[in-house]
Amino acid sequence: MRVLVGITGGVAAYKAAEIIRELTESGHEVRAVPTLNALRFIGAASLEALTHNSVHVDLYSDVEEVRHIELAKWAELILVAPATASFLARTVSGVADDLLGNIVLASTAPLVVAPAMHTEMWQNPATMANVVTLRDRGVLVIDPAVGRLTGTDTGVGRLPDPAYIVQSALSKVVAKDLANKSVLVVAGGTRESIDPVRYIGNRSSGKQGIALVEEAIARGAKVQLVAANVAYYSPEAVITNVVTTAELEVAIDALGTAFDYIVMPAAISDFRLENPNSSKLKKSTTGARLELSLIQNPDVISNLSKKIREVNPSAKVVGFAAETVGGDELLDLAKGKLIRKGLDLVVANQVSESLGFDNDSNQVILIDSNSQQLVSGSKRVIAKAIFDAINR
Ligand code: CTP
Repeated sequence: MRVLVGITGGVAAYKAAEIIRELTESGHEVRAVPTLNALRFIGAASLEALTHNSVHVDLYSDVEEVRHIELAKWAELILVAPATASFLARTVSGVADDLLGNIVLASTAPLVVAPAMHTEMWQNPATMANVVTLRDRGVLVIDPAVGRLTGTDTGVGRLPDPAYIVQSALSKVVAKDLANKSVLVVAGGTRESIDPVRYIGNRSSGKQGIALVEEAIARGAKVQLVAANVAYYSPEAVITNVVTTAELEVAIDALGTAFDYIVMPAAISDFRLENPNSSKLKKSTTGARLELSLIQNPDVISNLSKKIREVNPSAKVVGFAAETVGGDELLDLAKGKLIRKGLDLVVANQVSESLGFDNDSNQVILIDSNSQQLVSGSKRVIAKAIFDAINR
């Protein structure tokens, strides 16, 4: 694998030499990009000797080579070790004021950072917040070790063992285990028209669906997204936008049955207006009381799972069960949906006005016919667990 090792300016920079050696000795190709401050602690000559490649530091030398883009594209993995507090902050903000910053911003390769700094700096709320943001964005932040720091103090903040860093970094490179799979994600929340300006909707943000799309893409799948009222674009997914449940049904129908995995976090309106009004309802004509007559929408996932199983028995269908109860009641409702809707997996969670919707993290239970697994974390973590569960 082609690994770009970024080195930032901390005393632990000398340990980058050992990290590079670990990588090259296990057969990886390495290019080192130290920041100018890193060169105060480790020499470019050592890095060149260890990587067998020339070392670039300056954004403005060899400009004709467009070095930052060349290196950003070359890297299959970027490992920054040690990463200073300042590097973490710059990365969070997208600051690209040196070669390494430009590469990190321009690259789509997985990013792993191994911070090393004094305990107080690591535990500072600013650093902690930056670490949370990076992790939420999918960056692997390797926790610093506890031990002797520069000077006389001891505590958390030490760069972990180089072999451990290398092993953690390599495990970050996601296996393309969905490479031959075709995945349909149905996300967002449908809206049913009351009149041309009003609708019945729900609180779904579509964030879980987007996390599922991004996880599937990262694992090499061919992804189709049907998005109900979600603003999302990815050049790597085919996206069909819909508004109502009827439109969603038509869109899904048109896509056919050639999917290996169907995952449906969408909050689909169970009812629609029997007779939506073609012009805006006026208080002057409705009077003080307005009654709307609603009729039930079809159960999209039940119909789809029936249809898909006739042609592709090995396809897996994942539904969601967002309920306002917890504990055994939640489990019973979710298991009921698993059976009634013909699902392979149901993702159950408790929701309330402050829980579940529009949050970046969540806690869910993955339930199949013979097991239950509690998963908590960002919606990306939950997406990963869902694909792990169905792709076993
Ligand atoms: N679903 C669907 N079609 C519907 C309603 C829901 O395909 N008309 C799907 C959702 O996308 C979700 C699963 O079914 O994956 C469970 O949705 P949920 O709203 O929890 O269940 P309902 O069947 O609507 O049951 P209830 O509202 O009574 O809890």
